[in-house]
Amino acid sequence: MHNDYVLVAKEVTKRFGGLVAVNKASIAVRRSSVTMLMGPNGAGKTTLVNVCTGVYKADEGKVFFEGNDITGLPPYEIYKLGFVRTFQIPIPFQSLTVLENVLAAMNSVGENPLVAVVKRRWIGVEEDSIKKAFNILSKIGLSKFWDLPAHKLGAAQLKMLEVARALATGARLIALDEPIGGVDPAYAGRILSYVKGLKEEFNVSFLLIEHRIDIALPYADYVYVMDKGAVIAEGTSNEIIKNPKVVEIYIGE
Ligand SMILES: Nc1ncnc2c1ncn2[C@@H]1O[C@H](COP(=O)(O)OP(=O)(O)O)[C@@H](O)[C@H]1O
Ligand SMILES: [Mg+2]
Repeated sequence: MHNDYVLVAKEVTKRFGGLVAVNKASIAVRRSSVTMLMGPNGAGKTTLVNVCTGVYKADEGKVFFEGNDITGLPPYEIYKLGFVRTFQIPIPFQSLTVLENVLAAMNSVGENPLVAVVKRRWIGVEEDSIKKAFNILSKIGLSKFWDLPAHKLGAAQLKMLEVARALATGARLIALDEPIGGVDPAYAGRILSYVKGLKEEFNVSFLLIEHRIDIALPYADYVYVMDKGAVIAEGTSNEIIKNPKVVEIYIGE
């Protein structure tokens, strides 16, 4: 089981005072898959991912990454193991170019990224790293913006830069929390299709939180639906849209 799955969360419960935000939720992310966590606002999606990435400690349950028990490890340890939430990557310098931002992320595991960037700013940056960075940028449609300062990018492009930086850390699993939130529906599909392409190209898995079921579903290999803290349905996209429990909560919204 652990060979096929990069992440396994078993019966995770997380309470905030009297509120049970996540209630015995179990999910598994298959290697090289886009696994989607769906459900209405307040369902517990973000909290579950926060438990998996070490931001919150589970009250009950276990989390395994690449077969290793990571329950209760601090976020930075989990990040170093290769399970990355995009916001965990140190904030980019707005004035750094797109390429420099990717190079900075590449050096962020095990080294202070700011020191790394300042120290290496161009002089001494290995040609190899630059090639790697360009390869990543080309796979997500950002290579033509390589020399642009990050603050010049649009919202959708910034999202893609976040994904590029996650890839640059060498992540095996990337968690994206509502990556198309606030993005125009026309671009939203493009972001998700890039994500789908990346999983094959880089043999990386994605855990994608999304509540806009209509836009996101076609890009998912497997889907978990949460409601009121619990996983109420799982299956392929086709199975999910036919599931009466899912139809009910989305119509009820
Ligand atoms: N840090 C927190 N302290 C107290 N309650 C929280 C906290 N984070 C989330 N919650 C509550 O837990 C429930 C699940 O929230 P969340 O995981 O953010 O849902 P989702 O991401 O599915 O919208 C909600 O009722 C929310 O108000
Ligand atoms: Mg959320």
